[in-house]
Amino acid sequence: MKPLTGNNVIVEGRVLFGNNVVIRNNAVICGPARIGDNVVIGDGAVLGKRVQLGCGSTVKKSDEKTLVIKNGAKVGCHTVIFSGAVIGADVLVGDFALIRENSKVGDRALIGCRVVVENDVTIGKNTKIQTGAYITAFSKLGESVFIAPFVVTTNDNFMGRTEKRHKLKKGPVIKNGARIGAGSILLPGVEIGEEAFIGSGSLVTKNIKKGVLAYGSPAVPVRAVPEDEKIFKK
Ligand SMILES: CC(C)(COP(=O)(O)OP(=O)(O)OC[C@H]1O[C@@H](n2cnc3c(N)ncnc32)[C@H](O)[C@@H]1OP(=O)(O)O)[C@@H](O)C(=O)NCCC(=O)NCCS
Repeated sequence: MKPLTGNNVIVEGRVLFGNNVVIRNNAVICGPARIGDNVVIGDGAVLGKRVQLGCGSTVKKSDEKTLVIKNGAKVGCHTVIFSGAVIGADVLVGDFALIRENSKVGDRALIGCRVVVENDVTIGKNTKIQTGAYITAFSKLGESVFIAPFVVTTNDNFMGRTEKRHKLKKGPVIKNGARIGAGSILLPGVEIGEEAFIGSGSLVTKNIKKGVLAYGSPAVPVRAVPEDEKIFKK
């Protein structure tokens, strides 16, 4: 069905639209893309952006893959979503967010304003990522995870030097129901256990076990997360 479009909307390539899609002014959609029913695309959004790599990038350039935006998702103003991303049903993506190629966002997740989700990230359903957080490539976030504003995740201990970094590169793994406090930094490959809680401003250098509240720099376990705060009960 033909979407309801504002002014200066550009649709190029093969784009399939569901019913009742609304595209606001100046949005650009590059196919291949599948846009589900009741999707709303904000002013100036760019969807299906082609992958452009820097000359020293280690990311493999693949053929353009289909961007999928499922039913009921809402995409904010000036948001950029790359080709090959999958945005789940009823997801809300805030203004000025960026989601790169091959990343998958689960149903009903929230990607806040100015959040950056790099390539090949998986985000489970009902997960909330708040304003300005940085989710590095290859991170794995479970369901109902909470990432507070301006959290930073990392994946490369060699910061772009040496060949062995390619093998050792690993984003954090954040299990179901875990919460990461505002402004915390997660070092490459750390695992945050189910329903764990990282206090604000922490530097997480080691794995944190299931159900443990930890904070500090470096973050150390302090106590157990109260049972009444848990979503995933025993
Ligand atoms: C961890 C947290 C819940 C407090 O836990 P708590 O066990 O109740 O801690 P308390 O407030 O009783 O403080 C106990 C001690 O730990 C210290 N402390 C508390 N939180 C800390 C943190 N994040 N980092 C370092 N020290 C911390 C306190 O200063 C206090 O020290 P003292 O014993 O020397 O006085 C809270 O600090 C926190 O990080 N909340 C998350 C806020 C957030 O990011 N929200 C995001 C959505 S806006």
